[in-house]
Amino acid sequence: MYKNIEIKFNKNYTIEKDKIFNIFNVFFDNEFIFDFTENSVEIQIRSIDYNNLQLHVNRSLSNDALNNDSKEIIKKIFDAVTAIKSYGLKGNKRVYVDYNKERKVQNRKEKENKRGQFYYTNGNDFSLKNNELPPNYENKIICGDSQIILSNLPDNCVDLVITSPPYNFGLDYADTNDDSHWETYFNKLFSIFKECIRVLKYGGRIIINVQPLFSDYIPTHHIIGNFFTQNKMIWKGEILWEKNNYNCKYTAWGSWKSPSNPYLKYTWEFIEIFCKGELKKQGLHENIDITDEEFKKWVVGKWSIAPERNMKEFNHPAMFPEELVMRAIKLFSFKQDIILDPFNGAGTTTSVARKLERKYLGIDISEEYCKTAQKRISQTLL
Ligand SMILES: C[S@@+](CC[C@H](N)C(=O)[O-])C[C@H]1O[C@@H](n2cnc3c(N)ncnc32)[C@H](O)[C@@H]1O
Repeated sequence: MYKNIEIKFNKNYTIEKDKIFNIFNVFFDNEFIFDFTENSVEIQIRSIDYNNLQLHVNRSLSNDALNNDSKEIIKKIFDAVTAIKSYGLKGNKRVYVDYNKERKVQNRKEKENKRGQFYYTNGNDFSLKNNELPPNYENKIICGDSQIILSNLPDNCVDLVITSPPYNFGLDYADTNDDSHWETYFNKLFSIFKECIRVLKYGGRIIINVQPLFSDYIPTHHIIGNFFTQNKMIWKGEILWEKNNYNCKYTAWGSWKSPSNPYLKYTWEFIEIFCKGELKKQGLHENIDITDEEFKKWVVGKWSIAPERNMKEFNHPAMFPEELVMRAIKLFSFKQDIILDPFNGAGTTTSVARKLERKYLGIDISEEYCKTAQKRISQTLL
């Protein structure tokens, strides 16, 4: 079995077939075959080392011994192979046929129904009717307690919530303590998250960046995950944010070189993603701004991004890196969507949202951070 492609010529070419065959014969091996007819080239392909193909194509395009028509055909063959977007990977090769055969499950849909995909959301009473965000909240940074501010918004009026809540690590925020008893902390956090679910549109998403306090042995990411699934949100998935920095030194806690109490070290944080009502989000095709390359890279659920390095400049102790927010917004929302951050801090979310032509609402309890966020907005070039 092969994947077949036919490239029809729209003019008469003078093609140096032998030379072209010589350039590509290293690939043939019954995996990649092509043949010229009077006015077309037929390609049959099973697998190919794509990087190597690219290398050979680039070399031949700068080879003076080939005429321009041959180069044009080589380019057409390469573009046709590049245009095939569904393939598997085996070693260095892209495999174009049967690559998912061994993973195929018979009657997959039937079995999915039997298992009950996201069964925990059954009986949700989310309204399907989405509402407009009142104009006095659009493109605003608002200072206040998110629980109170959000209670003034109608249901279903925001497309995407992206946030990094205070982690209760004991950080020195300008206007809040970050060292409550865990029960008090979760009670407050969940009253804000309840409001976030309420104001989220049907089909909208909530993205929460969270790092557990490992030394307190509180699995915050699981507790937050349970909260959302108990509140009938679909758990869409999890991204592992690899920061490549350690959360402690070898001997900071626990035992050294002894099984008595080794302390585990982490270099990553979690990004949990939830959907309200359904996985699919409505949006206009012209409002998609993610590129092919970005999409392919970012749907792999591990993002290697350095932590924000400019926290001193913004005088905030726990900021998002812009790259992380940019990926999340482009992957999970459309241009013109409304983005809410209920713990907006120094305003990374709102500033990136504006740059990406989304509407935004950022809320933070600290006046100082809100001023910083507002300043960043006014400096953000569109
Ligand atoms: C981890 S920081 C968010 C930082 C932000 N992602 C950034 O890039 O700047 C958490 C923020 O939550 C704010 N905060 C804490 N309690 C709040 C509340 N009840 N309502 C609104 N904001 C609150 C804090 O002032 C702090 O700026």
